Amino acid sequence: MSIESLLAMNQQWAAKVAHEQPELFATLAKQQAPKYLWIGCSDSRVPANEIVGLLPGELFVHRNVANLVKHVDFNCQSVIQYAVDVLKVEHIIVCGHYGCGGIKVALENTNAGISDYWLRSIKDIFLRHREELKEYKTEHERLSRMCEINVVEQVANLAHSKIVQTAWQKNQPLQIHGWIYGLNDGVINDLSVTRKGLSDVDDIYQVDM
Ligand code: CO
Repeated sequence: MSIESLLAMNQQWAAKVAHEQPELFATLAKQQAPKYLWIGCSDSRVPANEIVGLLPGELFVHRNVANLVKHVDFNCQSVIQYAVDVLKVEHIIVCGHYGCGGIKVALENTNAGISDYWLRSIKDIFLRHREELKEYKTEHERLSRMCEINVVEQVANLAHSKIVQTAWQKNQPLQIHGWIYGLNDGVINDLSVTRKGLSDVDDIYQVDM
């Protein structure tokens, strides 16, 4: 497929949307008011809007390799701040996926170049959960569980962030969810680790604002 064909497909898509929803582009050009922030993996097989059936304007999105939320990542933190403080999203979804290449590489000793710096924190997560992970008989099962645990850890990172805690202190409605997507069936599972307020944050991580 040539690069020009992507532009041609864009023309077709824009015409189709304009036909089906004549008001959509005019409305979106004025403002966006998404209720959800999606933090997902860069993996091309996990396109955020498509898999939850949302249109342009309905999902604020940040994606990086292995859907990591790091406190020193100004890119991710800026997205979170804008989503929470300005857009006032009511839900933040961390959506990982089974078979994540980033997690797989992090659990091996390969030299992956610069991305080793990015993925390094996944090794720390592995160490913290080593006892549980030992119980899995195959590498496949262990990787799948690690993909889930990584999501749970990123949900915790979000709950520990100043941005989220400040919103909760102001009683702003904000929930954080941990989901995982199956590449082989297209189905999302809720990992049931939703956090809704400061009572869901361990004392040591609570910040006096
Ligand atoms: Co991935």
